[in-house]
Amino acid sequence: MKPWAPLSVLLSSFCLAIFWLCSTGALWRSGNQEWRKLIMVQHWPITVCKEVGNNCTSPPDYWTIHGLWPDRAEECNRSWHFDLEEIKDLLPDMKMYWPDVIHPLSLSHFWKHEWEKHGTCAAQLNALNSQKRYFGASLDLYHGLALNSMLQKLGIKPSTSYYQISNIKDALASVYRVIPKLQCLPPKQGEEVQTLGQIELCFTKDLQLENCSEPEGPTEPRVLVPGGQGALWAQAAAVQGPGLEVCKDGFAFYPPPEETPH
Ligand SMILES: *[C@@H]1O[C@H](CO)[C@@H](O)[C@H](O)[C@H]1NC(C)=O
Ligand SMILES: *[C@@H]1O[C@H](CO)[C@@H](O)[C@H](O)[C@H]1NC(C)=O
Ligand SMILES: *[C@@H]1O[C@H](CO)[C@@H](O)[C@H](O)[C@H]1NC(C)=O
Repeated sequence: MKPWAPLSVLLSSFCLAIFWLCSTGALWRSGNQEWRKLIMVQHWPITVCKEVGNNCTSPPDYWTIHGLWPDRAEECNRSWHFDLEEIKDLLPDMKMYWPDVIHPLSLSHFWKHEWEKHGTCAAQLNALNSQKRYFGASLDLYHGLALNSMLQKLGIKPSTSYYQISNIKDALASVYRVIPKLQCLPPKQGEEVQTLGQIELCFTKDLQLENCSEPEGPTEPRVLVPGGQGALWAQAAAVQGPGLEVCKDGFAFYPPPEETPH
């Protein structure tokens, strides 16, 4: 064998792998993906910041929108580009309730991502079939759920003492009459408990609340292509540390905002 042969073998298998990744990715994206429910995902900005090493400037001290996600579909139409102009009437509400917690100065980047990944699939419903409708309906659902005031009323407030996950879940189920899904950051080294990060409530295609009783899954609906998006997630996880996962039974920390130094 010539000395360069092993390298070329390596290279060609690498190319094959890349080709395979790209072609499966393309296949997956072009598919008519069947999804069944919508997940209204709200996150706790303090935890979002914690997830990225507490590198945010004054995150909101109320639950904000992460996204409105069809359960089993992503990126359904890659030629339907995000256009900020279409939602300009919604901007005051968007900035307030759907901020990019981590990059507050690049708002539309987050919205673009949510639209392209989730909105283009949700748009299969007439009620959500434009950017204005998708973002507008998401804001309406957010206001309708009034999660912040519900939590207040239930006495679930950010605290240095811990909550039982089952208590939070039961309390939410008692007001919404459906089973929510809670996502937590697993305890970091030196921490006693997980940290509450995300509350998901599920809706039918008629936008009626329903149980989130899917089998336990990851934060974002995951691609079923082995090595596809999973590899990207693994990469992101390697950079940012372990991300959110379904909260385990037991205690959780619902972190208060940092005291602003005077
Ligand atoms: C923190 O965020 C700022 C602004 O987004 C960025 O420039 C900086 O590199 C980040 N620092 C770390 C340690 O990630
Ligand atoms: C994708 O979006 C474009 C732009 O809105 C639209 O013209 C096209 O019909 C859409 N394709 C599908 C398959 O929905
Ligand atoms: C939601 O789950 C609860 C508890 O498992 C069950 O009693 C209820 O019937 C479910 N509701 C719907 C609409 O499926």
